[in-house]
Amino acid sequence: MAILVTGGAGYIGSHTVLRLLEQNYKVIVIDNYSNSSPESLKRVSEICNRSPIVQQGDICDRYFLRKIFESYPITDVIHFAGLKSVSESCVKPIEYYHNNVCGGMILLEEMQRYCVNRLIFSSSATVYGEPERVPLDELSKVGGTTNPYGTSKYIFERILEDVSIANPKMNITVLRYFNPVGAHQSGKIGEDPNGIPNNLIPFISQVAVGRLEYLSVFGNDYLTIDGTGVRDYIHVMDLADGHIAALENKKSNRRFNIYNLGTGVGHSVLEIIAAFERITKININYKIKERRAGDIAECWADPSLAEKELGWKALRSIDDMMRDSWSWQKKNPNGY
Ligand code: NAD
Ligand code: WQD
Repeated sequence: MAILVTGGAGYIGSHTVLRLLEQNYKVIVIDNYSNSSPESLKRVSEICNRSPIVQQGDICDRYFLRKIFESYPITDVIHFAGLKSVSESCVKPIEYYHNNVCGGMILLEEMQRYCVNRLIFSSSATVYGEPERVPLDELSKVGGTTNPYGTSKYIFERILEDVSIANPKMNITVLRYFNPVGAHQSGKIGEDPNGIPNNLIPFISQVAVGRLEYLSVFGNDYLTIDGTGVRDYIHVMDLADGHIAALENKKSNRRFNIYNLGTGVGHSVLEIIAAFERITKININYKIKERRAGDIAECWADPSLAEKELGWKALRSIDDMMRDSWSWQKKNPNGY
């Protein structure tokens, strides 16, 4: 039994590969390094003294995929590979649909060709669009996405559902991540965004380490506890554990499953800044600015289905998230 991990050199992928290796799975990673470097997986091997097989290549290249499926006894695929920037997706929609939808289709076609029937797909809370109410459970309305990135995730979810209906051998799990943050507790692997970060915690960490001057807080006039946006931040190691739980899912007898991976608790931007300052003892310079286009006021998960069926729940606290994000940033001020 071997697990193919697409995009396994990336942020969530590398942390999940670590957990898979620790659980003695045989792991094959494919990655084109468009948003990562081989260094992340070298560090994974340093942490756990085991190594995945790593092949550089693109999920859109079906001949590359065929070589992979012919070379290894793959039973399951965990599909992380894709492009993930909301703002970039508005400028480069074709690239986003090509990678996230066409790339996924080619992967599915080749899985079917080689009779590989189990797939875990990285989706996102972004498929819920503007929530009608919080917390969001898996039956909440989806599809009101406001950018090509979110729409690409929504479209691919729909494709997966149709494929699972048409092919009774397929077993597909869609994991909708809320806001992944943090890093492995060793500080050896973590999130390494290209250029100026879009996301809150990497931005705060780079202000703390002196790479950026101040944080812009995007709006303080939302109808939330303190006016700033509220999100469900989840530690990346909890997410990694969620993938192991999904892989080992014995309870669900459905062949198409969707699970929210979140903590069930929302935190505002100002609460996050305060937590980061408390844990690191570093003052974060910030300024209140205009709302960011496309942002929603608040969003958090009802993660109870994952607990009931996968036996998984997030264990790590906001303090753990801040401590581990900072430990990674401090040890790797310029990333990998
Ligand atoms: P990431 O960019 O760090 O990792 C994605 C990896 O896929 C990178 O290593 C990249 O080089 C690789 N890749 C991209 N296109 C590829 C292709 N065509 N062929 C082969 N490799 C390719 O992103 P991440 O944060 O680890 O996210 C992993 C997945 O989870 C993505 O699908 C993302 O959309 C999804 N997701 C991420 C978040 C988040 O906030 N980080 C939230 C929800 C969902
Ligand atoms: C969090 C909060 C901002 C940066 C995005 C994607 C989503 C998913 C996760 C992939 C918001 C505020 C942020 C800053 C700020 N990714 N903020 N100053 O927007 O919830 O989700 O990443 O699937 O699809 O949309 O995350 O970290 O960007 O923002 O005030 O410099 O922090 O307004 O309230 P978001 P984020």
